[in-house]
Amino acid sequence: MHDDTDFTGKAVLVVGGSSGIGNGIAQAFRQRGADVHVWGTRKTAADYDGVSGSDLSGVGYSCVNVGDPDAIASAPEPFAEGRMDVLILCQGAVEYQRREFEQEGWDRVMAVNLDSLMHCSRRFRPALEASAGSITIVSSLSGYRANKGNPAYAASKAGAINTTVSEDGTRNAAPYSFFNAVGDEPPMVVLGLLKDPATGGMKNTASNIAATGEFVVNLVCEADAEKMNMTSIDAPADLDELEYANIETLPSTAVTPERIASSPVSFESRSLEMLEIGPRQTIVIGEILVTHIKDEFILDPDKVYLDTPAMKLIGRVHGSGWYARGTDLFKMDRPKPLPKD
Ligand SMILES: Cc1cc2nc3c(=O)[nH]c(=O)nc-3n(C[C@H](O)[C@H](O)[C@H](O)COP(=O)(O)O)c2cc1C
Repeated sequence: MHDDTDFTGKAVLVVGGSSGIGNGIAQAFRQRGADVHVWGTRKTAADYDGVSGSDLSGVGYSCVNVGDPDAIASAPEPFAEGRMDVLILCQGAVEYQRREFEQEGWDRVMAVNLDSLMHCSRRFRPALEASAGSITIVSSLSGYRANKGNPAYAASKAGAINTTVSEDGTRNAAPYSFFNAVGDEPPMVVLGLLKDPATGGMKNTASNIAATGEFVVNLVCEADAEKMNMTSIDAPADLDELEYANIETLPSTAVTPERIASSPVSFESRSLEMLEIGPRQTIVIGEILVTHIKDEFILDPDKVYLDTPAMKLIGRVHGSGWYARGTDLFKMDRPKPLPKD
């Protein structure tokens, strides 16, 4: 028994749990004490004997074709007395050789990867409501970035991601000076996120990015310095620092986290990579999906000339508590290219 998470006596159904990731999830729950039942596509559990990535020992099994809503509705109860505490939806289908471009291929993938999430959730809602249980949907990175040749797979997995929203939608804000722009095609940013010194775990910003893949970088102007400083308070995850520091927000257009209304420039971003580069730190590489620049700072929209000094941006400098203004600037022209012989 692992002591981190104890599921003793809990009833867990893993749809798509006959092999691969779903099977790993099913066995992990079983090792943590849960009664586990798996839905798969082969007729019996014995039909998975010898299949790589499949271990159905110690778990119940039913053959249910989740591509068919009637099969979901009429499948036998996985647990006695209609019990259920956790529903894991890990089903997935993919079609190759451009079959997803055809109506039938598209429909098959959509039915399994997207429609069935709703049908399974509907079927087990009463049981989960009775146990105050939970549903986890396992999607794919393809839900964030389409892969060539599989439009139905990518679209259905994106749909899967947006089928749910965390009930705990607590907003989070904090200053991060380990930040830079690192490319323009596509435009990218990096963030340096240290671990929380008290717990050794991720700070809230890092865990939110890991959970949702989304964040907004708001550049800070001098007028917002005090408020920015307030958001650096070491606070539990359920504190909404935006409310705490009385910061107004505007909705974002491409990501769920809101942007800061007074910020001269905001970058709506999605995480491409989170790299653990040491025991104390994580680097996030993010792609900027949308940039907002306040109209008053745009000198020439066609040439994208900006009045950066007018933004009165501030930066963190040495030590704790020291900041710089973007004044006292000096200019240097770049050296002319060396003549080619
Ligand atoms: C100006 C300033 C810059 C900061 N830069 C960073 C940084 O680059 N990386 C980091 O891990 N923490 C940084 N911190 C500390 C975090 O803001 C602080 O730990 C905060 O409580 C984290 O909040 P969160 O848990 O909501 O992410 C900075 C703090 C201030 C005041």
